[in-house]
Formats: sequence, C-alpha cells, structure tokens
Amino acid sequence: MRKKLLVGNWKMNKTMAETAAFAHASFELLKNANDKNIDIGVTPPYLSLQTLLNINPKLIIGAQNVHHLEKGAYTGEVSIPMLKELGVSWSLVGHSERRTYFNETDASCNLKVLALLENNMTPLYCVGETLQEFEKGVTKEVIKAQIEVGLKGVEDVREVVIAYEPVWSIGTGKNASKEIAEDICAYIRELLRAIYGGNADLVRILYGGSVKPNNIKEYMAMPNIDGALVGGASLSVESYAELINNM
Ligand code: 13P
Repeated sequence: MRKKLLVGNWKMNKTMAETAAFAHASFELLKNANDKNIDIGVTPPYLSLQTLLNINPKLIIGAQNVHHLEKGAYTGEVSIPMLKELGVSWSLVGHSERRTYFNETDASCNLKVLALLENNMTPLYCVGETLQEFEKGVTKEVIKAQIEVGLKGVEDVREVVIAYEPVWSIGTGKNASKEIAEDICAYIRELLRAIYGGNADLVRILYGGSVKPNNIKEYMAMPNIDGALVGGASLSVESYAELINNM
C-alpha cells in the first residue's frame, strides 16, 4: 500500500519571515495529515530551508534543485553535501520550469537523480509534456524518454518519487482531467514495471498542475495517483489545510 503524499512546491515565493509564519502554523497541518495517514512536505527556496528545519523538521523538506557535483566553480549552484549538512533529504529534479528556463535535460536530470540516491536522498523527479507535444499526441513518447533516460542506472526505484506534471496545466488553471492524469500515471507505472518488476507498485506517483482544494479529491480517487505536487494552492496555510482535508 502506497502512503499518500502532498508536496507544496513554493517556487520563487515566500521570504524567510513568511516561511516562518507558515512553519509555525504547520503543526496543525501535520497533525491532520498524520490522522489521515498522509505524508506532507514543501520545497521552498533554498534560503528558507533552514527556517523550516528549525521550526518544524517533521515536515518533508526538499530543495527545488541540486547540482550533481560535490563542489566546484559553478556560480549560483548548491551542492548535495551543502543540503545534507542542513538536514535536507529530498529534492525536486527536472521541474518543467527548470527544463524550460534553465535548459535541464533528461540526461542532466539523470545525473542529479543518481547523485541524490548515492547520498541517500529522495529525488522527486518531474516529468510531463508541453502543450505542443500534447496537441501532437506524442505525450507517451515524451514521458517514456523522460522516464527511461532520467532514471537510467537507478537500482532501487522504491527510493524515487515521480510527479507527472503536464506543462500546459501548470499555473494555468487548465488542470488535466482525472482520466488523462490517471492514464499517464498508469503508463509511468507500466514503464517502471518493465524495468523494475514488482517494485514499480511501491513507487509513489503524484499528479501536479493546477491542483486545488476543490479538485484534489478526484485525482486521489484514481488507482495510480498517490498524491499531488501543488504550486499556487500550497502557499497559504488555509489552502494547504483544505488540500489535506480533501485528499
Ligand atoms: P500549480 O499548482 O500552481 O499549477 O503548479 C504546479 C507545479 O508546478 C508544482 O510543481
């Protein structure tokens, strides 16, 4: 049985002071989530990681990106040992905004996934097609490459969490229907099963893209969707609380 998971991706939002306010309110969120047997977490900007860890380390706290190398001349980057030193144990990899604005590729994501796993950290690997790819009907080809290249060399897939986020649904209010989301999440599991056998059934696969308190329930009812990666609706405590309540 896969435990449900809700992750709020804050993107480039919230100052440290705003993060502290959320963290203080998060004890109640955690209590409700525990009662419902749901794991919850957030991926804040780097500067807010320490704030969250200081106030409520029981949340899953993840970075939004990592560099795959330990150190070196890579201005503006943050390494895995730096995150580990803080106590961060998760990171997003390959969010579509990183792919679009920062030229991340399936191959560069693969380096990050492997480096995180080597350091006993959990990669939350994001995949999803663009609007153009969706309209051309090539979603499954795109997802296949993202999964096969991005996870190449991964030995124990149970250590990985996957998020299917169609690019056309992110921040647009045009969420994928529950049928589309389930079809692709089931396809991802099928791809994983071909490589990893029965362990594929233990991998948590999330849907992301305009998930709101009023639509999260429909996704959670689908057999291959184990939770949600939420942007805008994860920013306020009230809305985060409603997401948990409706899961
Ligand atoms: P929205 O929930 O704001 O559409 O963002 C989704 C997302 O990109 C989460 O990573």
